[in-house]
Amino acid sequence: MSDAPSTPTKSEPIRKADPCVMVIFGASGDLTKRKLLPALLNLASSKLLPEQFAIIGFANNDFTDDSFREYLGREVKQFASCDVPPELWDWFIKRIYYMKGDFGDASHFKTLKDQIARVEKEHGVNGNRLYYLAVAPRFFGEVVKQLGAAGLAEESNGHWARVVIEKPFGRDLDSAKALNKDIKLVLDEKQIYRIDHYLGKETVQNIIIFRFGNGIFEPIWNRRYIDHVQITAGETVGVEQRGGYYDTAGALRDMVPNHLFQLVSLTAMEPPISFHADAVRDEQAKALHAIQIPTPEEVLKTAVRGQYGRGEVDGQTVPAYKEEPNVAPDSTTETFAALKLRIDNWRWADVPFYLRTGKRLGSRATEIAIQFKRAPFQLFRDTSVEELQANRLVLHIQPEEGLSLRFGAKIPGPIMKTGPVEMKFNYEDYFGRHPSTGYERLIYDGMIGDATLFQRADMVEAGWSVITPVLDVWKALPPRSFPNYPAGSWGPKESDDLMARDGRHWRNTNIQ
Ligand code: BG6
Repeated sequence: MSDAPSTPTKSEPIRKADPCVMVIFGASGDLTKRKLLPALLNLASSKLLPEQFAIIGFANNDFTDDSFREYLGREVKQFASCDVPPELWDWFIKRIYYMKGDFGDASHFKTLKDQIARVEKEHGVNGNRLYYLAVAPRFFGEVVKQLGAAGLAEESNGHWARVVIEKPFGRDLDSAKALNKDIKLVLDEKQIYRIDHYLGKETVQNIIIFRFGNGIFEPIWNRRYIDHVQITAGETVGVEQRGGYYDTAGALRDMVPNHLFQLVSLTAMEPPISFHADAVRDEQAKALHAIQIPTPEEVLKTAVRGQYGRGEVDGQTVPAYKEEPNVAPDSTTETFAALKLRIDNWRWADVPFYLRTGKRLGSRATEIAIQFKRAPFQLFRDTSVEELQANRLVLHIQPEEGLSLRFGAKIPGPIMKTGPVEMKFNYEDYFGRHPSTGYERLIYDGMIGDATLFQRADMVEAGWSVITPVLDVWKALPPRSFPNYPAGSWGPKESDDLMARDGRHWRNTNIQ
């Protein structure tokens, strides 16, 4: 590849976020200290927060403003990637308040309203509010209802009120629809920001630029040239301290209708007519709606589940899933899921999308591999070339961030032999490192009212429509052979069989 440009072209947003008070529900939890406040600190360091800004943490722990600030002082700086000079910290911390309250208690929301008014006055904020629901999913509907009842969700006199809702949004199609219905009794769709942190990743945002900002890829991005697509989100970690949640969710719910479907829709969508939020989301929604909903018979053939047993990861022996904290010893929850999807439209008919995700896999790697059709062999029939490898383009999402393209080349020498070579682009080599929590852009977008990177109700429901039949079949037929893959492997044998039946295989070797 050519030399890196000396001045990378990177367009950073230059507009400051709108003045607002941000209320974080569930502010004493992990997400706040690990991601949200470090991201806000990074935004402050980049001068993207306005003077007229303040944060109120709302949770049911016994903090005061002072003790909350002290706790944050101990916890937050380690997760922020910027330098935190004392002036920056002072600027930041004096804008943070705490209120103890119950998510279901109307009187606490009245007190919150007074508290917001006081904080707005103190920091000159004009009435804009960003509510962030970093709470357990069972409280999503309740908090929105209380915001409505307290008059806190109204948008009046040109001031906005927006609600950011964390995942998981529902447990299946019915619960997602019910939640959408409940929150829409209080909020307009344009006030709802359903977050998926995958969309905060630069490499995910780049899929659109890569596909539609270059002349050479889009013409071949279709069923005429592409054989199949493989999307992998492999993790080496187990369930860590989240056994309580994970054991009720499982790999499919946890990763597929949200994160992996974002990757599917960005890979499969048609070009949007602009970067306007609805223009982009319309195209993503259309791609999701074109995924064929599997029948129960198809689920049995195209969906694979697994659970890890003991094994070795990074040279360490690790326990089986059933031995993890807060996991039932006889748990039938899957920690691995693989699916074959069909997107039944003119661009993708007959091009399967294979998806897989799991905990305790062979390596941490999220990537989209586009496998092109093989070149015809005729020309090589009378040579010593035995087979031609198909071209493959891999979008590396994390931890490696970049692209690689495999193509065949002649191996030097008097005899005609070919071999695959790889051309690589790595973000860091070109653009340097831009460490972030992944939440900066999403929070900033919430503050300027750009919903492009947030999920719309129809997108969430389209995702659940595809996944719910799988959940139903799996529920009706409990797994009989869990655990069925050792920690540190690439999942159960059935996952390889899923590909082998189609004469294909997972791209394991390069990422193991
Ligand atoms: C979360 C899931 O949404 O995404 C976790 O609940 C998973 O189980 C995580 O580990 C993966 O995110 P990332 O950014 O580390 O790939």
